[in-house]
Amino acid sequence: MNWDQILAPRMSRMKASEIRELLKLLDQPDIISFAGGIPDPALFPAQAFREGMGRALSDRQCATSLQYSVSEGYGPLRGWIAAGMAGIGVPCTRDNILITSGSQQALDYLGKLLLAPGDTALVGWPTYLGALGAFNAYEPHYAPLTPGDNRPAQDYRDQAAAQGGRVKFAYLSADFANPTGVTTDQTGRERLLDLAEDLDIAIIEDAAYQALRYDGEAVAPILATEIARRGQIDACRTIYCGSFSKTLAPGLRIGWVCAAQPVIARLVLIKQAADLHSATLNQIATHLVASGHFASHVPMLRETYGRRRDLMLAALDREMPDGVTWTRPEGGMFVWLTLPEYIDGAELLARSLRTERIAFVPGHAFFPDGSGRNTIRLSFTLHDKAAMDEGIARLGRLLRAA
Ligand SMILES: Cc1ncc(COP(=O)(O)O)c(C=O)c1O
Repeated sequence: MNWDQILAPRMSRMKASEIRELLKLLDQPDIISFAGGIPDPALFPAQAFREGMGRALSDRQCATSLQYSVSEGYGPLRGWIAAGMAGIGVPCTRDNILITSGSQQALDYLGKLLLAPGDTALVGWPTYLGALGAFNAYEPHYAPLTPGDNRPAQDYRDQAAAQGGRVKFAYLSADFANPTGVTTDQTGRERLLDLAEDLDIAIIEDAAYQALRYDGEAVAPILATEIARRGQIDACRTIYCGSFSKTLAPGLRIGWVCAAQPVIARLVLIKQAADLHSATLNQIATHLVASGHFASHVPMLRETYGRRRDLMLAALDREMPDGVTWTRPEGGMFVWLTLPEYIDGAELLARSLRTERIAFVPGHAFFPDGSGRNTIRLSFTLHDKAAMDEGIARLGRLLRAA
């Protein structure tokens, strides 16, 4: 069978994620890994989930938790999320919430909802690799989103038209972005809203890390800023994607979209066709754990990850040779390093696996055009002082040798 003959054109854009391939190599015990952007499993609220699952499977609940359910998601969980959204400046009702199987599924659905082949998506340069993976299936072009540089809207319009489509949305992680750790300030958010209004496009606000702020002042979500302009969520163009993956646990695959009802209604149609609904059992357990433990669990995560971020930044200050610069994130999971032009992050990783045995993600994977070869992403979530100091000292040696 020659599969290439019958594959849909979209498959030519779908490549194995460099990060996923890498993670497979990193199980060896002597490697100190800064590669995976994953929560520390030692911090999972495992006992709370044991109890939550037990209750969800009790005689009283199992007729619901093991049954088919509505595509919108489990009502009490949607209600809990809506109340939480109100607490961060986004007054809404459960009718503005759709439960998804992780925010990754929301990105796929939004690509399906908005992109025709040849359309343009505005994305950070670099941006979250998984967003590019999700959108690629819908065959878009990408243009760099740089709210700071005041590029006229007409420029974006002309470029998209020349490529046979229209600009459809701007995608960004405004808080502690993956991969850079950088936060877009209030001025940048206002400018982005102006640009989106000018272009008449949607904004996809990926808030996967928003709850993990370690210091500095919280910046209102883009959706909150837009509600302040328009008066209510149903008049807004910003589509907010949230997730329990970084705050509770990624294994249950529970995320959500918060948006205007006309957007939610169409996403419900997509979800019905794709998978009917996210796992009912996981939604009920997540609701029990979130309503009982979120308020105490997240401050503990902030404390722990904040300390690890400080350890990484202090080690970088000590160990990095001249010519290397890095970001100082106020939250999230990542520090982004820019190396001298002549150092290639992918070659550095290959050398590291032979010599110093540390792992990180080469930065070019996060650029839609494969540029940024002299960048790497480090995650600080998994290590405490001894491993952090040793790993960053090894990185220093590796860079000095390069
Ligand atoms: C920026 C960003 N968005 C979305 C996701 C997907 O998360 P999930 O599908 O687990 O909610 C990730 C995962 O790493 C991420 O870094």
